[in-house]
Parts: sequence; structure tokens; C-alpha cells
Amino acid sequence: MRIGILNCGGDCPGLNAVIHGVVGAAAAKGWETVGFRDGFEGLLPPGDFTFLTPKDTEGILKQGGTILGTTNKGNFAAKIGEGDVAQVPQEIVDRAKKTLDQLEIGALVVVGGDGSLTTAQQLYEQGWPIIGVPKTIDNDLKATSMTFGFDSAVSSVVDGLDRLYTTAKSHKRVMVLEVMGRHAGWIALWGGMAGAANVILIPEIPFSYEKVVEHLRVREAQGYKSSLIVVAEGAINPEGNLTTIDENCGGEVRLGGIGDQVARKIGELTGKETRSTTLGHIQRGGAPTPLDRILGVRFGVMAAQLAAEGDFGKMVSYHSYHVGSVPIKEAVMELRLVECDTEVVKAARAIGVCFGD
Ligand code: F6P
Repeated sequence: MRIGILNCGGDCPGLNAVIHGVVGAAAAKGWETVGFRDGFEGLLPPGDFTFLTPKDTEGILKQGGTILGTTNKGNFAAKIGEGDVAQVPQEIVDRAKKTLDQLEIGALVVVGGDGSLTTAQQLYEQGWPIIGVPKTIDNDLKATSMTFGFDSAVSSVVDGLDRLYTTAKSHKRVMVLEVMGRHAGWIALWGGMAGAANVILIPEIPFSYEKVVEHLRVREAQGYKSSLIVVAEGAINPEGNLTTIDENCGGEVRLGGIGDQVARKIGELTGKETRSTTLGHIQRGGAPTPLDRILGVRFGVMAAQLAAEGDFGKMVSYHSYHVGSVPIKEAVMELRLVECDTEVVKAARAIGVCFGD
């Protein structure tokens, strides 16, 4: 038996941990593992791949990025623009399948987010032996309560907020931190709560500047001279718009710029010195947290287990501390967004966090 593995979409701390898990579990079963480079692109003839043994993956558990390389564009993009689904061209699918057949790959593990797993589902529906592993710092995949990479991204946000807090306090400023997450507010919510932000603006809760300013004025009256605001890149501004950097980049639109907008407006309305920081790809880089390392390895081992059982079309999932599996289809039907009346949002409100509503 030969098992293939590729990762696709944006990189994410913990990808190497998954590779480590798959290669280790496959070797224990006496199988060979083939790693394809740069996502599905590595399947196109003549094929860009490497054989992986446990020796090759020694030490990668603690490394960020991915030893296989990745891309969120290219021939296999199944989500474009605002997340519209596109069919991967049949000619591309057929060419890639030849590589799979020539290498006699019995199972292909696709480690990806919403876009890559949509591609994986299309290939599964054409008879490919696909197993999905959920990857995204955005934590926005249905059918799993956590993806690896999220915890590492949150810890970067918390580190950023801890640093902004001391400079904000010294200068009596309002500091705005824009964080990633696409259309989901998970990173902003968890990062904001753990980093003691005073205002958290997320796509799921429409905000107004009046409410944010009112909150900052109350804080000022209470004697707080500085404030921290976290804004998710996908937050909808009060005019009802997303803020984008690039709408024609060959994949999904690039979001960004809402942090600067919010800082400018808050500065104007309050007369307080306000500064904006965009955390950007720092959230995606660097070593994975211990939680993401463990999740990644467990996900990889479960993927190899599903391959052994021939249980294709499934995605590894995580619920109530247990790693299991669900149909990939269930994971890509819709995004998992923050529910506004959920306990964690209520807890944030209870300690005085303003969501701008
Ligand atoms: O999906 C992960 C993510 O990091 C999003 O949070 C962000 O919007 C996007 O990828 C950035 O993509 P790129 O690396 O193409 O700028």
C-alpha cells in the first residue's frame, strides 16, 4: 500500500505535525508515503513528489510552514472570489489521476481548508480515494469543533495585544489590531478575549461607530486612559461593506484594511490618538503551539487509520476532545461562524467587552 499526502491552501502551523503523523502511522503499517509538493499541483505530470520515511520527518513536528510547500491558487482552485464554487476542469482532473495511478497510490490524504476540501470532495465524487484533514487558522470549518493552526494564530494575537497594551497605556492611546479569519470572527474573538481587548469587532456582529465611541467614552469617564480594539479582517463596516485588498488574485478575494478604517474613524470621533496595526501573516508563521502539534499528529494518525479501513470521502474531525471522522461534504457545505448568543460571546460581554452593537 502507498499513501499520498498533500497540503493545499494557505500554510498553517501544525501542517508538518500532520505529515509527521501520517508518515509515522503509515510506516508502522508497512506502507510507503508519497508527499506531493505545492498542493494538487504536484499531481500534474510529470508529478512533483518525494517519498517520505520517518527519518525524513524527524524534527519537523516543531516547525511552522510545510515541508511540502503549498498554494492557494492554481489549476485546482474550487473556491474563487467571495467563495463561489467552481468545478475543477475535467482535463486537469484526468491528468492528475494518471500520476496517482502510475504511483499506485491507494489513498490520498488532502490537508486543507474550505477551498481545498471542496476540491477534494469533487475528486472523491469522481472515484478518487480521498481522505480530508481540516486545516485552517480561521477555525471556520463545519463538522469539526477545532482545526489545528487556530491555537497558534490566537497565541500570536495575544502576544500582539500584550505588546500593544504597554505602549497604549504609556501614551494613553487607542490601539486597533486587525487580525485574520476571513468571514469568521473566531481568531478575533478568542484572541481578543485572551488578550483582554476592550472592543472586539467581528463579521457576525454588525457594529456602529457610535456604540464603539460610547464605550470608549464610558471607559474614559471611569478613568481608563487607553483601550485595545481587535477587528477581524472580515468585519463589515457600518456602510455594509467588506474591506478588500485584491479582488482578482486568482483565488478568493484578499481581505484587509478595516483596521486602518476603524482607527481613522475612532480617532476623528473621539479626538484621541489612535494607531492601527495589522498582524498579517505573523499569525500563520512560526512554530505551532503544543496543542496544534498534538492535534496535527492525532489528525495524521486518524487519516492513516481511515486509509487502512478504506473509509474514503471522510474528513478527520474533532469533537469533545475526541478525534473521529465525518463526510467531507458536511464540512464544506457552509462556514462555521461565531453564533452571537453563544456562551463565549456572553462571557465576553459579561466582563465588559463591547462588540460595537
Ligand atoms: O485562510 C487563512 C488566511 O490566513 C485568512 O485568514 C486570510 O484572509 C488569508 O488566508 C490570507 O491569504 P494569503 O496568504 O493569500 O494572503
